[in-house]
Amino acid sequence: MKNFISLHDVENVQELVQEGLKQKQNPFADQKLGKNKTIGLLFFNPSLRTRLSTQKAAQNLGMNVMIMNVGQDSWQLEMDDDVIMNGDKAEHVKEAAAVIGSYCDIVAVRAFAGLQDRDADYREIVIEKFRQYAGVPIVNLESATRHPCQSLADLITIEEFKKTARPKIVLTWLPHFKPLPQAVANSFAEWVNMTDYEFVITHPEGYDLSSQFAGNTKVIYNQDEALKGADFVYGKNWSSYTQYGQVLTQDPSWMITKQKMDLTNNGLFMHCLPVRRNLKVTDEVLDNQSVVVQQAANREWSAQAVLKAILSGL
Ligand code: CP
Repeated sequence: MKNFISLHDVENVQELVQEGLKQKQNPFADQKLGKNKTIGLLFFNPSLRTRLSTQKAAQNLGMNVMIMNVGQDSWQLEMDDDVIMNGDKAEHVKEAAAVIGSYCDIVAVRAFAGLQDRDADYREIVIEKFRQYAGVPIVNLESATRHPCQSLADLITIEEFKKTARPKIVLTWLPHFKPLPQAVANSFAEWVNMTDYEFVITHPEGYDLSSQFAGNTKVIYNQDEALKGADFVYGKNWSSYTQYGQVLTQDPSWMITKQKMDLTNNGLFMHCLPVRRNLKVTDEVLDNQSVVVQQAANREWSAQAVLKAILSGL
């Protein structure tokens, strides 16, 4: 694999899921692969799981790891071309990406959507600039529109917990007071659409995802109706794509409760974390009917499968 920026970089999703499960069984089998190789993890935004799981995965493969919180540990980076740099951004991404790439064999980047300008966010300016200028493979640690490491871990988790060959999976919008990016929901939809699982999306009117990600997935605006018979309930809040970045409702009736889970086929609740308890999902569901910790643990194996695939091609 050359880069891991999106699903389109993956030749065979099922093989990558199986590779993640294989790495989980034997985490140090490929420790020689990363010897004398360095990965740089660049964070424009906070992280708990992505930072630690990717660091651990790289170390399991024998790699050296460097981590930087961009703009806090480093200079703030200018992304635009042809600008007079007389503001607070002291370094241009052209030099910064090239310099970081000269120290690293792989560069991994987290840079969230700004949620102000849809076209700019959906052009993926930050990750594209690093792809253009770093000169080494790039891994997406959550960009403006996608979170592929998360989606791979989600599919690994579903593979582990599914009780039928074709489980019913429901992606449901959850209430929140802050505008959040569409990246996790976009990516989840994109990856699940590569499987033959039954897949339904449910959200209030006005929260339709870009068709680029949702494809032809059935959308049901009645959450109770959508949840019927679900084997997995994947919860996430996202702000509106059509009225870009806006919070159109905070309707608390969309929170996942025990009563909602009773509509499912003894389903399991999934969420990428972090999650706000009793705003998006109740304590009862999180503590008794969820696989959120197992999902987060699988981030290590998803990252390891991806890094192994990239290292194998270096
Ligand atoms: N799920 C996820 O990406 O978690 P972090 O934001 O903590 O990395």
